[in-house]
Order: sequence, then C-alpha cells, then structure tokens
Amino acid sequence: MNTNSKNNNLRSDIREILNSENKKSSKESSPPKTVTVLSCLLSVQDNFHYIPDEAIEEIADFMDKTINDVWGVASFYTNFRFSPPGSYSLDICWGPTCHISGAQEILRGIHKKLGIDTETETKDGKISLGYSTCLGACAQAPVYAIDHHLIGNASVENIMDTIKELK
Ligand code: FES
Repeated sequence: MNTNSKNNNLRSDIREILNSENKKSSKESSPPKTVTVLSCLLSVQDNFHYIPDEAIEEIADFMDKTINDVWGVASFYTNFRFSPPGSYSLDICWGPTCHISGAQEILRGIHKKLGIDTETETKDGKISLGYSTCLGACAQAPVYAIDHHLIGNASVENIMDTIKELK
C-alpha cells in the first residue's frame, strides 16, 4: 500500500470515529452529550492509542475550528501522545524508595542500552519507556513494569534480559 492510500485510509478511519462520536452523543443521553474538541481527541486516542497529525486536521474540520484551536487543547493535556506507542511498555520507577535503591543508575544504564534519553519509543518501535513516581511495590525496590506487570529487584541486566525475551 502506498503512502497516499495509507494516509487516505487513516483519514477515513478518523472521520468514521468522529462521526460515531457525533451519533453516540445524540442517542445516548438526555440532554445529549456535548461533542467537543476534547471528546474527539479522546475518541481518536482510544482507537489509535495516539493522536496522528491527520487527526488534528480532521478534528479541526469536523468541529469547524482552527488547527491551532485543536492543538491548544491536545497539547494542554499530558495524557495525549502524538507518536505511536511501542509494542511493549517499560515503566521504570524513580519514586523515593526506588531512588534510594539505585533507580537513577538503572535509568542511566537503560537509556544507554536502548539508545534513548527520555520517555519515548525505541527506534525499532519495540519499547515505550516511561517513568513512574511509584509503582506501588516499594518493598521490592527498585521496581519496573513490562506492560504493567511488576518486577522487583530491578537491575540494568535483568531489565535488558526481560526485553530480549519479548517477541
Ligand atoms: S517508589 Fe518505586 S515502587 Fe514505590
């Protein structure tokens, strides 16, 4: 499939999501739910797990707003992401207990091994790295999670071993 037809398919999927958002609002509740730029962004993110650039344009068109209006809302909320997530999430805790158990050292090592230096995706799209302020398993600090599955006694080596086992 060439880039143009992929892009057209993406846009038509986005329009379908926005139209169903509109239909839901008129059927579901009384008084009807209000369709807003925010509700459109949430629907797109629920479906794609991120907000493609094309969605910003389609939402602006759908809501009769400017692209800047839509970006203004999208960029205000930190929960929106603007690039596709990796196949697996890796969350490394850097909360107080993990911090005193060496989390910073682990983070530095993982940044180096994965070739990234912030919360983002690896180049191969396999891993989305995120930081957590407490994963709720402080007794096993330092802690990390793969796809929300918690693993304690973290080290750079055992995190990398876990990543290598992921298909
Ligand atoms: S501070 Fe890391 S699990 Fe609580």
